[in-house]
Amino acid sequence: MKSKQICCIGAGYVGGPTMSVIALKCPDYNITVVDSNDERINSWNGPLDSLPIFEPGLKDIINSVRNKNLFFSTDVESAIRKSDIIFIAVNTPTKTSGEGKGMAADLSNIKKCSELIAKVSKTDKIIVEKSTAPVGTAQEIKNVLKSFNTKNKFEIISNPEFLAEGTAINDLTNPDRVLIGGENTVEGEIAINKIADIYREWIPEEKIIMTNTWSSELSKLASNSFLAQRISSINSLSALCEKTGAKIDEVAEAVGMDSRIGSKFLKASVGFGGSCFKKDILNLVYLCKYFNLYEVAEYWENVLKINDFQKKRFSHKIINTLKTIKDNPTISVLGWAFKKDTNDSRESASIDVVKDLLSNGINVNIYDPMVPKTTILNDIKELSDSKLKKLKISSSIDDSLVGSYGICIITEWDQFKEIDFNKASNKLVEPILFIDGRNIIDSEQIKSLFKHVMSIDS
Ligand code: UDX
Ligand code: UDX
Repeated sequence: MKSKQICCIGAGYVGGPTMSVIALKCPDYNITVVDSNDERINSWNGPLDSLPIFEPGLKDIINSVRNKNLFFSTDVESAIRKSDIIFIAVNTPTKTSGEGKGMAADLSNIKKCSELIAKVSKTDKIIVEKSTAPVGTAQEIKNVLKSFNTKNKFEIISNPEFLAEGTAINDLTNPDRVLIGGENTVEGEIAINKIADIYREWIPEEKIIMTNTWSSELSKLASNSFLAQRISSINSLSALCEKTGAKIDEVAEAVGMDSRIGSKFLKASVGFGGSCFKKDILNLVYLCKYFNLYEVAEYWENVLKINDFQKKRFSHKIINTLKTIKDNPTISVLGWAFKKDTNDSRESASIDVVKDLLSNGINVNIYDPMVPKTTILNDIKELSDSKLKKLKISSSIDDSLVGSYGICIITEWDQFKEIDFNKASNKLVEPILFIDGRNIIDSEQIKSLFKHVMSIDS
């Protein structure tokens, strides 16, 4: 048995890829990823082509480390018992009831895991908070551990994840920084160093930042809020471009060339999605309100308001155009994932856009290369049967074009760039193209094949 034992609770988009890369880079560590969902664990242990998460490069890593020093299991208790270091990477959704409803993070999964760790542990352990959680979560974990176990010592470390889906493997192997927060005590520093030792196996020392726990927890919320704020800033300007004739890509390029601003994360879009941005901003807003910082709360809340405004603006463009051409037309929506190269659709802009289209009498044919049909239906399950009847989930791009008046490309999947638009536009009843601004199609020749081409700035 290897001397260093790690357990990770939560085999999701964060836990799975993160532990795979640690296993690859740290052959001296034995890692067990556990999850309460047996179906998920079965797929991690099953054929490489049906892993629960689609992430470029992940399959090869799993192939080289699975059942060598990386194991997937549902036996949570024994994995906890044998490990010295336990990562918690369970989901922390926005609360749907009780105090902080619709805003604060629901920490019940983290608390449940902490209670289990306290109850089954027979030795001292380092608990690593990997799930994005509000500032103060480490203290909550500590309180739970103390109330269920007074025999063992537990050090709580905050080590937020900065991976972006679709590029997770590169983000994990070449991160901009690794952040490790802990207590300012001798034991705290020893624990911080033990976690830093894992990353030191492949990451240069200068990229490993060590802070107090609160700074680490807040930095994660701040980073995601800053990134989302840039998107809302550029998206808000795309609305002004539409009125003035300025082109948002040209504005973004000119603004981004200022080295103080930088060019990344300035692509205007139909709105940001993903499981983190909205949730983290809501956490930040809740925290500010809790401390009576209402102006600060309002400042960040506006990032979300612009995101909703942008999605509505886009869907209304489609609705207004189609309705002048035909009653109850059909449109082909390409892309359901919240960005390319992932099968994740949490908070995807497609969900809100399609809900709006269906609610306005438009029939929708959806195609996505990776998101399963069951996930798409689950994402819009609250819609009435009469609206759902207007929806078809297509198994190919061609199938989605049948009877359609236009194409609306939302996710920037590479395969959508390969579409033969000449053929596709001929299949459409009334060739209309709606594109979000993530530069999917910028060729004038393609645009000329369509009667109307609409983007978020025109
Ligand atoms: C989640 C959070 O959404 C994110 O904010 C955080 O940074 C990391 O954890 P993700 O990995 O994308 O991100 O979530 P998800 O794919 O839902 O995976 C969480 C897993 O935890 C699920 O497989 C779930 O079954 C598991 N889980 C949850 C447990 O094993 N035990 C629990 O008590 C709760
Ligand atoms: C984000 C953070 O980037 C990552 O560091 C953190 O750990 C988790 O949250 P993720 O949500 O996976 O990662 O993807 P990201 O690449 O940040 O994209 C989020 C959304 O913003 C996507 O819908 C994307 O299409 C959109 N986006 C991104 C834009 O609309 N414009 C841009 O310029 C960049």
